[in-house]
Amino acid sequence: MKKIKTLILCTGNSCRSQVNTMKKARCMTDMFFLQVTLFLIGATIIDAQEKYFNTFAADGSMYIGVDYYPEHWPEERWEYDIQLMNQAGFNVVRLAEFSWAKLEPREGEFDFAWLDKVMSLFAKYHINVILGTPTAVMPAWCARKYPETLAMKADGTRIVWGGRKNNCFSNGTYRLLSERITRALAERYKDAPNLVGWQTDNEFGGTDCRCHQCQNEFQDWLRCKYFTLDELNRAWGTHFWGLTFFTWGEIPIPDDREGSTWAISNPSASLDWMRFTSWLNVRFQDDQIRILRALCPDKFITHNFMGLYQNMDYYALAKNLDVVSWDNYPTFGDAEQMQIPYSSSFAADVMRGLKRQNFWIMEQTAGPHGWATFGRNIRPGELEKICFQQLAHGADAQIWFRWRTCTVGREQYWHGLLGHDGKPLRRYQEAVQTAKDYRKLEKALAGTTVKSDIAFIYDYDSMWALRIQPGYPGNAYQTAISRYYNACFRTGVNADMIPPGADFSQYKIIFAPDLYILPDEVAIRLDKFVRDGGILVADCRFGVKDETGLAHERTLPGLLAETLGIRIEEYESLPAKLNYVVAGELGTFSAIQYADWVMADNAKIMVQYTQPWHMTSFAAVTKNLYGKGQGWYIGTVFEKTNFYDQLVARLLEAAHIRPLVVPPVGVEVSFREGVGKRLLFIINHTDEHKVVTIPSGKHELLSDTVTTDQIDLDQYGVVVIKL
Ligand code: GLA
Ligand code: ZN
Repeated sequence: MKKIKTLILCTGNSCRSQVNTMKKARCMTDMFFLQVTLFLIGATIIDAQEKYFNTFAADGSMYIGVDYYPEHWPEERWEYDIQLMNQAGFNVVRLAEFSWAKLEPREGEFDFAWLDKVMSLFAKYHINVILGTPTAVMPAWCARKYPETLAMKADGTRIVWGGRKNNCFSNGTYRLLSERITRALAERYKDAPNLVGWQTDNEFGGTDCRCHQCQNEFQDWLRCKYFTLDELNRAWGTHFWGLTFFTWGEIPIPDDREGSTWAISNPSASLDWMRFTSWLNVRFQDDQIRILRALCPDKFITHNFMGLYQNMDYYALAKNLDVVSWDNYPTFGDAEQMQIPYSSSFAADVMRGLKRQNFWIMEQTAGPHGWATFGRNIRPGELEKICFQQLAHGADAQIWFRWRTCTVGREQYWHGLLGHDGKPLRRYQEAVQTAKDYRKLEKALAGTTVKSDIAFIYDYDSMWALRIQPGYPGNAYQTAISRYYNACFRTGVNADMIPPGADFSQYKIIFAPDLYILPDEVAIRLDKFVRDGGILVADCRFGVKDETGLAHERTLPGLLAETLGIRIEEYESLPAKLNYVVAGELGTFSAIQYADWVMADNAKIMVQYTQPWHMTSFAAVTKNLYGKGQGWYIGTVFEKTNFYDQLVARLLEAAHIRPLVVPPVGVEVSFREGVGKRLLFIINHTDEHKVVTIPSGKHELLSDTVTTDQIDLDQYGVVVIKL
């Protein structure tokens, strides 16, 4: 730790001013090397932080609490609020994340008096604090004095100040101001007895700033990546339409906004722009992390992620944090989603996969939410059920957003545990009950996480490349994953979400839906995975492109032709009303949206086209016995979910995975395991009574009873059984 500190001290402000000087002298050759060196130093400093992070508090309790905004309420109310939190059994709050204007009302002049008071009031009631760096909303003086800190729109005008998340991430002034408030806060509270950790900013979401500074930074970033213009021209295929670059300064910001007449729409350029804008946010966060680590080495650092959000490379954003936390608002969505929140499980698994460790809930739905209009309310019992779904997938802390519904501003309808009236009513009481139930589980939960035999490759490059070019109408990366993921959910087995660079060997089945960008290195490891006994499931648009977004020159599925035992020489997308009919061992189905004309070389045809006539020699689903494993290919989209259920059942059988509990419709099953223990979670997502067959003679921890071979679950009922 000491070594790290020294490094941090010598790469603080002085380096930033070097960076700023460098910016002025851009295009000088030494600047490039200096930048690479700085980048590497930065990475080393933060990488050195490999401390083990225990997601529970030091006394073994789970963190449970709320997001609290004392600045929204009169001071006389604070202590009463805190007493109510204390009575609810809460032991943590998140504070200050949007309070920059209150903490630094004039540039360089800080006012901590109010936060001092709040912090010590919380200390009085033994409640811990997570402080947010308040940089997601710039104070008005910042926009007035430094208008260039505001992001620039595509039409060349700046965003009008008045909302949040409106800054340019390349702007050196904004980066310095963000560092200054971060340092001031950290210096002020580093010794506060109840400060346990930091949250950086709020929901980093990429950027679409199109200012000259961003363009310059993009060009520099490309130079670090490709070294020579020749290599960039090759990687982007700029000989197409003669769009070759002769100097770095000619490279524009790609513009592929829908409806844009003059779109600069080179898919490879757009993919790099996505990577670059994500990196800008990561760099901004790293600036803060460096300061927080130096001043508060014993506090954890997290950020509140947004689950399935797509504009950031979340693996990169998570890398230098101690723990991932996320904001779960599951009642958004269509009618089915409201009944069975598949996507909240999917998102939780993504969150757990970012660091391959348990995560936190930093904002949890506490009531109806929306800005102009709001959605449905949480029904009796549902609040606890929402929390338990996350707990079952590895959430080790539970923080509700927000304490009390705000009477002012944009989020007057984003309801908290308390209403506008501030009374501790039903939703508060349900949170109290949830906290009590969590406390009953603390001991059993300690040291447990989700362990899975099944993994999905979750890859931001493929997600972005498919957004740029979906290939067939309606294709979306997460939708493709959900087809298989939801079937696993219905079957009662857990799954991990892993990056393409992960070690595959610990899994029995790997799903790689829509893995559009397939570097050779990943293809080679997937081949080995199957040869060594794994089951690989690939599907439409698998392995079409290399890492720079250029189409591979090989016949699909490229390097995996032998693994999958197939050849795809032609393919097509299917217009809305054109369905093909397929049939085989798994049944008869309607195929929609897309069709690979799959030729089975060594593979066995599991499902074949029966209509139309020209498709009858092609396969829709194949299975190839290869090495010690199996390579499956699904070359179309099935209209009904029953195909995916049958497929998953087949795959589980082949992998010798037997679901312990077969959940009825709307009931979710999940497991957490640790040394010598295994916990079974059963969650009824419906408002109907459900009966589930379970192992008997086991300890149900919430009711402290011994199980028989059936369990009755009321609407939104949850049970946790020690196996
Ligand atoms: C996000 C933000 C919160 C709040 C909620 C509700 O999750 O992090 O600050 O704005 O949404 O809108
Ligand atoms: Zn900018």
